Amino acid sequence: MLLKPQKQKERNFSFKGAVQINHSSFFVYEDKDGHKFLNMGKNEKLHKSVVQRMIDSNPHIKRILKRFRIKPLIDTKTLNELTCGHMNETCNIAIGVYSLLSGEFKDKVDMSSLKEASMLHDLGKVLIPSKILNKPAKLNLKERKIMNIHSTLGYELLKTQGVNEEVLSLIKYHHQNLMHSGYPSLSSDNTASDLGVQIISIADKYSALREARVYRRRLSRTEALLILYREVREGKIMPAVYNALFKYAEMYDNE
Ligand SMILES: [Fe+2]
Ligand SMILES: [Fe+2]
Repeated sequence: MLLKPQKQKERNFSFKGAVQINHSSFFVYEDKDGHKFLNMGKNEKLHKSVVQRMIDSNPHIKRILKRFRIKPLIDTKTLNELTCGHMNETCNIAIGVYSLLSGEFKDKVDMSSLKEASMLHDLGKVLIPSKILNKPAKLNLKERKIMNIHSTLGYELLKTQGVNEEVLSLIKYHHQNLMHSGYPSLSSDNTASDLGVQIISIADKYSALREARVYRRRLSRTEALLILYREVREGKIMPAVYNALFKYAEMYDNE
């Protein structure tokens, strides 16, 4: 059978999750005939149409954007950078932390959910205005409030895409902590004490601290660990999770 070329907009792609191959993350898309594709970060149009479908399938997203006066612009450049960089690295660290926990802790975490959630955790940033995402200075209160909805936006974008509840919860609460002082506010199910949230959260923080940001330089391994050590002392991070990260950093991360 000859394969007839089709214009991209004629093909109907849906989101099917995220996978890691050779330590690189890819989004998996499926067309209406059931063929699966990996997004390599090159095809912005395809990426955009998939995110647009996510927005269209959940009216709550437009309500959130309206409340915060954000235009529904899809920043696929940022999404591609995050997929190849920070989200992929967060996944590597989360797997490393998980593997260094003792068996009694491991039993409490679903590894495949942790992996997928790590690869998708900042998806909501695709809708955060780039002037806020890339501001080369400290965010003001209004900008901070907008930035902080990215975890809820990620959750809402994926809620209608057949992603399992555990992955959704990890994405929504990846900025929460044991003191419940993170965001968004917790419901009565007390998710911040879940081990999975603790792992994704520490992996996310460590990955971010080890990267240069527009407003600060890249921190050394010791500097990054020291910041997290203080958070353990403040009661925000489980000591066992921190110790696993510490071992991971000593083994696999150069100063
Ligand atoms: Fe985040
Ligand atoms: Fe992140």
